[in-house]
Amino acid sequence: MSLHLRCLYTHSLALVVTLLLFTATSGDGDGDAVENITAVLGHSITFRCPSNRSTPVERLYIQRFKNDKEDFINGFYRGQPLPVLPEYQNRTKVNEMELSMEMRNISVSDEGLYKCLVFINNKPEISKILLKVTAEYSVPTITKDCNKPGDGGAGKSCQLSCSAVGGYPQSTVRWTGLNQSLTNVIYNRSSADNESKTWTINQTIVHNCNQPTNISCAVGGSVSHTITICETESFPFVVIVAIAVVLVFVLLLVFVVVMKCCFRGPQRDDGAGETGVRFIDCRSQLQHV
Ligand SMILES: *[C@@H]1O[C@H](CO)[C@@H](O)[C@H](O)[C@H]1NC(C)=O
Ligand SMILES: *[C@@H]1O[C@H](CO)[C@@H](O)[C@H](O)[C@H]1NC(C)=O
Ligand SMILES: *[C@@H]1O[C@H](CO)[C@@H](O)[C@H](O)[C@H]1NC(C)=O
Ligand SMILES: *[C@@H]1O[C@H](CO)[C@@H](O)[C@H](O)[C@H]1NC(C)=O
Ligand SMILES: *[C@@H]1O[C@H](CO)[C@@H](O)[C@H](O)[C@H]1NC(C)=O
Ligand SMILES: *[C@@H]1O[C@H](CO)[C@@H](O)[C@H](O)[C@H]1NC(C)=O
Ligand SMILES: *[C@@H]1O[C@H](CO)[C@@H](O)[C@H](O)[C@H]1NC(C)=O
Ligand SMILES: *[C@@H]1O[C@H](CO)[C@@H](O)[C@H](O)[C@H]1NC(C)=O
Ligand SMILES: *[C@@H]1O[C@H](CO)[C@@H](O)[C@H](O)[C@H]1NC(C)=O
Repeated sequence: MSLHLRCLYTHSLALVVTLLLFTATSGDGDGDAVENITAVLGHSITFRCPSNRSTPVERLYIQRFKNDKEDFINGFYRGQPLPVLPEYQNRTKVNEMELSMEMRNISVSDEGLYKCLVFINNKPEISKILLKVTAEYSVPTITKDCNKPGDGGAGKSCQLSCSAVGGYPQSTVRWTGLNQSLTNVIYNRSSADNESKTWTINQTIVHNCNQPTNISCAVGGSVSHTITICETESFPFVVIVAIAVVLVFVLLLVFVVVMKCCFRGPQRDDGAGETGVRFIDCRSQLQHV
């Protein structure tokens, strides 16, 4: 291990020298093209170092710009792996043939600028890779709370909330089906999770409407289900219940009357073949009612 470390130290020293030389000669090193790659939170991504190699590559360093310095992440020297920071030990793997590195279990903190140094004949070919991380938001929760407006005007005033969690990068709530000029944002909050650094987005608006409208909200690429607000005024629930109760009562009454008249018959005349009479009797009784 100490041998390894000494090796790394020597290499780092050589690297620093080469870098100094390189930046001194190339001048505007920051003008290099940057390749952008995007990884999904928790998934894997492969960094591919471009190279025009005609001869074998003797060294590959993949580094990361962080806080104004560069951390060595992974690489090899003459077919030998180099010591890797514990943070990356079980998460990265270099493919010497493809000059690439796989990084697993991507987190938001992996986002940033990386650098590939491919050494051919002791000269580095430098390329930069910008890693961006994305995470899909949960399907937004949409809720409504509609009331007659306080001023007794036409239409309704609806308080609508939309919230989604676990996304990255930060995003905003977008409503569909709403006329913006009749909408007021009353609550708008984004917060990042301390650990995962993912965002929770929550917005509440007040919307005045006077006709049924189907609306939904979206955060990032996730869309809520559609709800209908301002439905046409049907009978209020209480009225419907009252009607139902009255109806049941009337039916019961009819039932009782029918039962009474039909069962009184057999008690009076118990003979057979009198059913016809009973029914006639019954019908005439009903006609009297
Ligand atoms: C990479 O992303 C940066 C910053 O987001 C942007 O300025 C640049 O144009 C992108 N490059 C490519 C090749 O898409
Ligand atoms: C590869 O070679 C071409 C032309 O020879 C050059 O324009 C390009 O910059 C080279 N790429 C790298 C990564 O050195
Ligand atoms: C890497 O994995 C090995 C074996 O699975 C384990 O012993 C070691 O602690 C891990 N290192 C880190 C930094 O997680
Ligand atoms: C992935 O990384 C997170 C922290 O960034 C850690 O909590 C989790 O255990 C890791 N998962 C695996 C499978 O290594
Ligand atoms: C939005 O509401 C305003 C005010 O009622 C109205 O003038 C405008 O035409 C509406 N826009 C749309 C697209 O319905
Ligand atoms: C809500 O907050 C986010 C960030 O906190 C901001 O980007 C967005 O413009 C705000 N939206 C409104 C309608 O105020
Ligand atoms: C998040 O971190 C900040 C500062 O690191 C700390 O003040 C705050 O209490 C933490 N919040 C939670 C919910 O852990
Ligand atoms: C969003 O904000 C509303 C209004 O403050 C609150 O009632 C609701 O619980 C919040 N939802 C989430 C997921 O934080
Ligand atoms: C709202 O959606 C329902 C069912 O999807 C549909 O029957 C209705 O016509 C829609 N209303 C409006 C105003 O678009």
